[in-house]
Amino acid sequence: MEIKKAIFKQSAPRLQDCPKSHLPEYAFIGRSNVGKSSLINMLCNNNKLAKTSATPGKTQLINYFLINDNWHLVDLPGYGYAKTSKDNRDKFEIIISDYCQKRENLATLFVLIDSRLPLQKIDLEFMQWCSSKEIPFSIVYTKADKNSKLELAKNIKNIETELAKHWDELPNSFITSAEKKTGHEAILDFIHFHNQEIKKLDLQ
Ligand code: GTP
Ligand code: MG
Repeated sequence: MEIKKAIFKQSAPRLQDCPKSHLPEYAFIGRSNVGKSSLINMLCNNNKLAKTSATPGKTQLINYFLINDNWHLVDLPGYGYAKTSKDNRDKFEIIISDYCQKRENLATLFVLIDSRLPLQKIDLEFMQWCSSKEIPFSIVYTKADKNSKLELAKNIKNIETELAKHWDELPNSFITSAEKKTGHEAILDFIHFHNQEIKKLDLQ
C-alpha cells in the first residue's frame, strides 16, 4: 500500500477530545525521543507532517492524521520523560492509558523501541501492561541506521531473549530507520492487511 494523501486532522488533549470516527486507527507510542513523529513522517513521505525535535517531550497531545481518506495514524506523547514535573508525567500517563484502553477504533498500537539500547525497564513494563489489558501491539525498532548491521542484529537478539522470558510467543516486530526509510513497506503492508480484515468484519 502507498500513502497517497496524508493530512493533519486535529490535536486532542485527552481521549474525550479525540474525533468521533469509525475509521480504524494505528497509534505510535514509546519513550520520548524514540522517533515516533519521525516514523509517521517517513511512512507518509512528508517530513513536515508531524513535528519532530532533538529535545525530548515535543509531542504533548494526541495528534490525528487522516490517511488516504479512510484510516488514521495517531502520534501520542512519549512516556517516561524524566525531565518534566511529576504532575506532567502523571497527566501523560492518564492520557496514554485512557487512550490505549478505551479508544474503540484502535486497531494496533506500535510500541517503538530504540534499536541501539538494551531492553529498557519502562518499555518492558509498558508492553506487559498492554498484554494485561489485551491491547494489541507490535514492536517497532527505531534508528536502525545508527548502528552497524552486526551491532543491530546482536542488540535485537538480546532484546528478544529478554522478551522471551515474559512472552511464550514474541510480539510481531519491525526494524525501521526514518533516515533510510527502512521498514516503510512492511509497516504499510501490515496496516493494509488489518484494514482489509476490519472491513470484512464490518461487512458481516
Ligand atoms: P517526542 O515527541 O518528544 O516524544 O519524541 P518522538 O518519539 O516523536 O521523536 P522524534 O521523531 O521527534 O525524534 C527524536 C530525534 O531522533 C530527532 O532528532 C530525530 O531526527 C531523530 N530520529 C528519529 N528517528 C530517527 C532515525 O530513524 N534515524 C536517525 N538517525 N535519527 C532519528
Ligand atoms: Mg513526537
